[in-house]
Amino acid sequence: MNLSELNKIAKAMVAPGKGILAADESSGTIKKRFDAIKVESNEDNRRDYRELLFRSKDAMQKRISGVILYDETIWQKAKDGTPLVKLIEQAGSIPGIKVDEGTKPLPNCPGELITYGLDGLPTRLPKYYEQGARFAKWRAVIDIGAGIPSYAAIATNAHALARYAALCQVNQIVPIVEPEVLMDGDHDIDRCVEVTEFVLKETFQQLYYQKVALEGMVLKPNMAVPGKKSAKKASVQEVAEKTVKLLKECVPAAVPGIAFLSGGQSDEEATAHLDAMNKIGNLPWGLTFSYGRALQAAPQKAWSGKNENVAAAQRAFSHRAEMNGLAALGQWKSDLEKKAA
Ligand code: 13P
Repeated sequence: MNLSELNKIAKAMVAPGKGILAADESSGTIKKRFDAIKVESNEDNRRDYRELLFRSKDAMQKRISGVILYDETIWQKAKDGTPLVKLIEQAGSIPGIKVDEGTKPLPNCPGELITYGLDGLPTRLPKYYEQGARFAKWRAVIDIGAGIPSYAAIATNAHALARYAALCQVNQIVPIVEPEVLMDGDHDIDRCVEVTEFVLKETFQQLYYQKVALEGMVLKPNMAVPGKKSAKKASVQEVAEKTVKLLKECVPAAVPGIAFLSGGQSDEEATAHLDAMNKIGNLPWGLTFSYGRALQAAPQKAWSGKNENVAAAQRAFSHRAEMNGLAALGQWKSDLEKKAA
């Protein structure tokens, strides 16, 4: 393993004012997104849509440090025959790949999930590297509810994350370690903090046991937010303060960067929260975005599967990328949203 090279890539992924585009929706998830805009989810449409994103010069050159791809996409070519990976590289951005194979029920733990995909990973990783991937992603899912999460679910998922991360590093690929605590429940922000703290501490313990080099990874956590069905809302400032405090307690300074998932927050919430955290400042790691929905909801709606809407969709994507890039610097203002509208 060449750790200084891994470290260089990890730092580039969280470079100031830049963040990651999570365009790695599985076939099932992208179908849900396309259903919402009444577009058929077939290979060509998925290709056309993702090509439109990767050809958004403004966003890609200025604000998108890396793109997480789904297996189908990493092998696809643009309409003119250029590999999609090349489009990303030509924009100066880094291609990455989702390597987990989704979740299944965790035995003996009703309502809880374990992420699959370790079998075969040692043979898949070198092929992805050859195809241009310099980082990977593995998402573990932890739900909050009555009596859950269990220690079994937290420990098993942390163990799998560390096994994946170690395999990535020996294959010269930077692992994005993503233990996502869902915001689906009716719990308040403090319950989210409590669970996320436990999950992060367990994850870093497993990374340590399995000798993962912290300098060569990126953490992708959830923010500390109340569940969507919680009666108790939290202000932007409260989310920012509680998230930063939590991360400082759990994430060693040797980790080059933290790139949040958006997890179902609205576009503007995801931006405002990231901005408020960076305004607090004095952080030991880069703090940026690795958003799926919060970067893509607007361009998907603008595109709606029509060729004549490609330019408008690219503008919508560039706008969200710009807003989040500013938030990663702590330089976002809500007026900038109004001006664009
Ligand atoms: P969201 O930002 O839509 O949560 O997606 C990010 C991601 O990659 C989840 O694994």
